[in-house]
Amino acid sequence: MPTTITWYGHGTFGIQTAGKSLIIDPFFTGNPASPIKASDVQPDVLLVTHGHGDHIGDTIEIAQRTGCLVIANHEICLWLAKQGVQNTHDQHIGGAHQYDFGTVKLTIAHHGSILPDGSYGGNPCGLILKLADGTIYHSGDTGLFYDMKLIGEEGIDVAILPIGDNYTMGPDDALKAVKLIQPKRVIPEHHSTWPVIAQDPHAWAARVRAETTTEPIVLQPGESTRL
Ligand code: NI
Ligand code: MN
Repeated sequence: MPTTITWYGHGTFGIQTAGKSLIIDPFFTGNPASPIKASDVQPDVLLVTHGHGDHIGDTIEIAQRTGCLVIANHEICLWLAKQGVQNTHDQHIGGAHQYDFGTVKLTIAHHGSILPDGSYGGNPCGLILKLADGTIYHSGDTGLFYDMKLIGEEGIDVAILPIGDNYTMGPDDALKAVKLIQPKRVIPEHHSTWPVIAQDPHAWAARVRAETTTEPIVLQPGESTRL
């Protein structure tokens, strides 16, 4: 089975790889773009980029129902333990760890990470996933940073980047990010969930095609692509 990537709207992605089901930032409840509910998913692993409610989302409910592993930064894992979620693996920025489905490395992200109850969520992160079929970079919520060039040097097959503006990179900076990272393909995300982050992903994709050698993949919520 080839690795597949499915967008559930906003920053939420499902990845099927090596017989495992991964979900990044499981935000289903209250996500107007998601075509599915939290109760529909049965992941083996959740990965959480930062503490904001639109990213930690349904982590507690899904983790308690399924017993899946949750991978996040140290502070979020401490907070999850206090909520009764014990099956966690904490990492932190710059650190990589090998799991049975592949390797996860946390990267910097320029953003916030406060948890829904006001607890400190540590630094926000991005994710580099080295999987059997290639390497994915999900930047998490972030502004543009020049060190994306270093992330690109890891050899990124698919980059997942916000284009929504207001809270994260908008289309102009996300285009600069593509030029720094030089991924083979790029998926725009964190847009059009709400009016304040409404964007035209096809217009952005046309700019990516015109100005870079990266292939843009515009998904609708619920659609998948192969890695
Ligand atoms: Ni955020
Ligand atoms: Mn967000």
